[in-house]
Amino acid sequence: MAVMEAAIKLREQGIDVVDFGPGEPDFPTPQNVKEAGIRAIQANFTKYTAIGGIKELKKAIVEKHAKEFGSQYDISECVVNLGGKHALFNIFSAVVDEGDDVIIPTPYWVTFADIARFVNGNPIFVPTKESDGFRLTAEILERALTPRTRIVVVNSPNNPSGAVLDDDEFRRIADLCRKKDVFLLSDECYSHFLYDGRKPFSIASRTDLKSHIIIAGSVSKTYSMTGWRIGYILALPEIINATIKLQSHSTSNPTSISQKAALEALTGPQESVGVMLAEYARRRQFVLDRLRAIPGVKCADPGGAFYAYPNISVAFGRSGIRDSVDFSARLLEKAHVAVTPGEAFGTNDHVRLSYATSMEQLDKGLKRTHEFIASL
Ligand SMILES: Cc1ncc(COP(=O)(O)O)c(C=O)c1O
Repeated sequence: MAVMEAAIKLREQGIDVVDFGPGEPDFPTPQNVKEAGIRAIQANFTKYTAIGGIKELKKAIVEKHAKEFGSQYDISECVVNLGGKHALFNIFSAVVDEGDDVIIPTPYWVTFADIARFVNGNPIFVPTKESDGFRLTAEILERALTPRTRIVVVNSPNNPSGAVLDDDEFRRIADLCRKKDVFLLSDECYSHFLYDGRKPFSIASRTDLKSHIIIAGSVSKTYSMTGWRIGYILALPEIINATIKLQSHSTSNPTSISQKAALEALTGPQESVGVMLAEYARRRQFVLDRLRAIPGVKCADPGGAFYAYPNISVAFGRSGIRDSVDFSARLLEKAHVAVTPGEAFGTNDHVRLSYATSMEQLDKGLKRTHEFIASL
């Protein structure tokens, strides 16, 4: 937040800041999806709907998930929420009791920890190895589990590192969760952002482990629909019913118009997804090549999402820089490039760069970053 505020101040002074902060695609929402939203308004589909989402949308979600990943959910095992973040909030509220341990592999998206704390759970941060591309393994998890562990959070592809779990390792993690009788929460919001020929995977394909798996999904990133606020949960009916109860007395239904747009996104033409991905694949390679060309900077391969998470500790001890926060503040002040310090994600040797921005901005920002580090 501090870096973002400083960036805004510089912009107000007319300074050209390159922003590597965005956590959302820079593509417009696809035309067919926008038109479905407009049609919904014109047809007066603008009133309350079923609290947990309209039946057609739930059907579209479970059917698409089954077709793509081999999962088997009934619509009674699906609820539509106001974005993936709301899905996570409701899952934690329904499942985590006071004092329960919540296992969160590091680096992690900060919201996981804050929601865990909000519901009086106890986040337990489990470091993954940078040399292993920040991927969680069953072995690391087994050592971290406690008698009070209630839920294990996995986010693959990962924000901020882009790490993608190996499918077999994911299955081993799920087997371990069942053996230890804890829930495995899989946040699939970046599931379609995969590179180097990797195919989307869902742990819900292990239908035999359904009793222990909770899926949090979202149309936000896949269809560039962050502002429409539609996410979903796939889980046991008991969990779904508890979240509907919560939703009933807090948010009520997800926006009626957005539900129709999400229905079109899931059931209409899918070309836009491929177009966006091809562009991100190109940018990802460009960013990795440029980062790795900076002397002393290392960057684990981000297999997915749209972030790079370089290790910039080469700058520590130079010009008074001690950590990722100092680095980000100085990079902004001297080179006018905004990145997110790794401290926000639980590691301090890194910064997060989002490549959800134009090639021109990437080129300019990476050039400035290179010169900045070289000048220290
Ligand atoms: C890991 C992760 N999960 C979930 C979300 C939630 O996105 P939304 O609430 O827009 O669906 C985000 C957004 O940045 C994210 O990075």
